[in-house]
Amino acid sequence: MDKQNIFNYACAIRDWMTVGCQQFNVWQSQGFNLLSITKEDDMRAGASLFLTASVVGMFVMANSAVAADAPKPEVTGKQIAFDKTKGNCLACHAMPTVPDAEAAGTIGPPLIAMAARFPDKAKLRAQIWDATVANPQTSMIPFGKHKVLTEQEIDKVTDYIYSL
Ligand code: HEC
Repeated sequence: MDKQNIFNYACAIRDWMTVGCQQFNVWQSQGFNLLSITKEDDMRAGASLFLTASVVGMFVMANSAVAADAPKPEVTGKQIAFDKTKGNCLACHAMPTVPDAEAAGTIGPPLIAMAARFPDKAKLRAQIWDATVANPQTSMIPFGKHKVLTEQEIDKVTDYIYSL
């Protein structure tokens, strides 16, 4: 294996070897001039590069396997309510009891004391599912009817809003 080949070879398997390539560069920057050594040394350098790459590659693959297997943390009702691509409730509603409910809009009434205002939780859910039933002129999106949120997401948002 000649010196240029070592480098080419090292970089060809860069995908699972990025760190190996970096290591190669580090060695070079530390004065191990891998491009001007004997053939025998080339072989050794190549072997150790390959070994580093294999170990790093296996490590990366093992890690990504673990990451893929790890259960995703469950999305909370609060996250759905705050998420601009989901409920985005804050665009129109303040949540005065929630400290991090910042930059809220005032198009809808502040969401506060909801359990008192909606003793029947099903009515609260119905309001979120389709606000046009109570008021056909409302600017509130019919989150359930228009499938902006899934039934499960609406359940979670309802639970969260009910706690405000
Ligand atoms: C585009 C503005 C807008 C968005 C976004 C919005 N709402 Fe509304 N919402 C309103 C308006 C306006 C009202 C006032 C009632 C009406 O128009 O019928 C309202 C009323 C409500 C009410 C009834 C409050 C009461 O005291 O009667 C609830 C509960 C509610 N919204 C929850 C939500 C939730 C939860 C979200 C997010 C998933 C949300 N809203 C998103 C505009 C919005």
